[in-house]
Amino acid sequence: MKDLVSTLTLEEKIGQLIQIAPFFYIEKIDKNVFGPLLDLGISEEEIFLTGSVLGIKDAEEMIEVQKTYLEKSRHKIPLMFMADIIHGYKTIFPVPLAMAAAFNPNLVKKAARISSIEAQTAGIHVTFSPMADLTRDPRWGRVVEGFGEDPYLNGVLAASMVQGYQHDGIDKEGNLASCVKHFAGYGLSEAGRDYNTTDVSRLNLHQYYLTGYKKALDAGARLVMTAFNLIEGVPATTNAYLLREVLRDQYQFDGVVISDYDSLKETIEHGTSKDEKDAARQGIIAGLDIEMATAAYFRNLPALIQENKVDIALIDEAVLRVLELKRDLGLFDNPYKGASVTKAKQLVLSEAHKKASLEVALESAVLLKNDGGTLPLKKEMRVALLGNYATSKDTIGPWSWHGNPSDNNSLDDVLNGYAASLYVNDTLEAHLLDETSINDSDILVVAIGESRRESGEAHSKTNIKLSNQQERFINDLKQFNKKIVLVLFNGRPLDLSGVIDQSNAILETFFLGTCSSEAIAMLLYNEKNPSGKLPMSFPRNVGQVPIYYNYLNTGRPYKNDGNEYTSFYLDEKNDPLFSFGYGLSYSQFEFSNLIVKNAVFYKGETFQFSIDVTNTSAFDGYEVVQVYLRDLVAEVSRPVKELKAFNKVFVKKNETVTLEFLLDDEAFSYVHRDLSFESDAGDFILYVGNSSTSTLETKITMKEGKL
Ligand code: IFM
Repeated sequence: MKDLVSTLTLEEKIGQLIQIAPFFYIEKIDKNVFGPLLDLGISEEEIFLTGSVLGIKDAEEMIEVQKTYLEKSRHKIPLMFMADIIHGYKTIFPVPLAMAAAFNPNLVKKAARISSIEAQTAGIHVTFSPMADLTRDPRWGRVVEGFGEDPYLNGVLAASMVQGYQHDGIDKEGNLASCVKHFAGYGLSEAGRDYNTTDVSRLNLHQYYLTGYKKALDAGARLVMTAFNLIEGVPATTNAYLLREVLRDQYQFDGVVISDYDSLKETIEHGTSKDEKDAARQGIIAGLDIEMATAAYFRNLPALIQENKVDIALIDEAVLRVLELKRDLGLFDNPYKGASVTKAKQLVLSEAHKKASLEVALESAVLLKNDGGTLPLKKEMRVALLGNYATSKDTIGPWSWHGNPSDNNSLDDVLNGYAASLYVNDTLEAHLLDETSINDSDILVVAIGESRRESGEAHSKTNIKLSNQQERFINDLKQFNKKIVLVLFNGRPLDLSGVIDQSNAILETFFLGTCSSEAIAMLLYNEKNPSGKLPMSFPRNVGQVPIYYNYLNTGRPYKNDGNEYTSFYLDEKNDPLFSFGYGLSYSQFEFSNLIVKNAVFYKGETFQFSIDVTNTSAFDGYEVVQVYLRDLVAEVSRPVKELKAFNKVFVKKNETVTLEFLLDDEAFSYVHRDLSFESDAGDFILYVGNSSTSTLETKITMKEGKL
């Protein structure tokens, strides 16, 4: 590839570092974009020097763009096509936040696998996924795209997603290269307002926030996207500490770094670049390879080189990385790799893919409440299906560009095949309901929640309750004296304080994708027993935010002992309404016999224990066994609990399953003041249970030496 780089003119080299949208190459393509792309300011000739494409509709469009490009470019280096395949191409899987609730890495891998297979039929080569930003503030709309508040779960699932996309190698057809994003700390956007400032200590950055990206890179992710935010006052996109010291030197990452949309030029707005030229200089020096949706490199790098402000070696390095990625993707052998109308017809939205989407959806919903066995429903029941989601097909959630709600069935369509009788009304005004039908019903199922446009990028909120109208509707339904089952649709943890007491059961579905309605029906009727667990805590009210289970103890933890000078609220409890890891099942599980093999173990030795899980109910079911540790004394304050392992296990009714766990040294390690990651001898509490709050516990000790 170095030889190829040396044959390119400077402009051709820089072209490889620019990513623009398909409509630049072919006029008839929809200009469905905003911002800088509409005012890119490069010539027709320069367009045919660019190196990669952001978003593509389908195989026909890709083939036409690539063909036109190859005809017009001198060097004939194929374009590389990248897109946001976040939770499916056309077969849409549950949003990542919901997939995280499944606590099942294999399912995440499967979803990514199928997403790759479908997306590649459109000639897509790279997906901007996974989003490994740790998310602890539900006001931030992008929590829907992530795996939640826990670094360990985030890391495991981000890695699984990469493995699913890249599978047996990005050179193979049907696999995508994965671009992990947004490096780094984007989830820290202050007050949950998207694109807002972030501030984090280097210790916490390494301790909690970098873990997800690192695990994705360890799993082989070939690209990294920079974040919009600042780290230590410097925009991530021009942040040499992040991109050179951490990414290249520490993590030894040799893949491609791409900016987010316009984020290179936005350094001007941040007030850290004087102008576009300064932004280009800082970007290339910091280690940014490709700029997305702007052309600052094009317009400024030649002059910067001439003025000796940028070393050509930096450009050669970046171009080499881009060309190596194109080579590894197999684009030099076949520039149209994957793009096939015939294959798209065979594979996209195939029965097998929909079945897989259903399988993931069935594990991604979380049963939050089920008083007095309100659920499961019985087939002989007469059901009133109410709420704005009763008839809606739009349950694919944000970031499903290629997905189409019309491929879904609505809940009323599906429930018609289940209920003895079904009265359907999607009004949110109780006085518009048919009273006789409601009175004749045995139960009210209210499908309600946020719209797809209420979460995702640039969709942050200060009020995370259901709408006033929705809350009023649920309150008004109380007059009918019927049991109420809420089926929730939303892209973030909600404040459910206004509806929790008004409902007898709550099934949280987030957005479950193409087979949402089928999954919900199967869960409501116990054709599948719910098994999802919350990947983010649900606050009692927005004033508690950010609230997460793995908090630090403080010097004055609240003890409910009458001492007023402790860390608590006057007007609200400290704990969340539903904590991380929480989720019910129709089964009841009991945990017993926490048997520790080596309660005292030596540093570097594997720690081992077993636990019995007994299903004491009349239903077979899955339970997520969660293992947490607390490091009692350390060089820096450590969280009151941290997830270290989990295992989803199937337990038949009245049966007991014994699970063995092994924790290696990494589970006991943490980032020290000097940023080294290692374990220290000392005492730990081991917690094992089915949520972050319901656990058995025992003390264990790590000793120095011996090995
Ligand atoms: O991948 C996304 C990113 O997450 C947010 N800005 C736009 C990019 C490309 O669509």
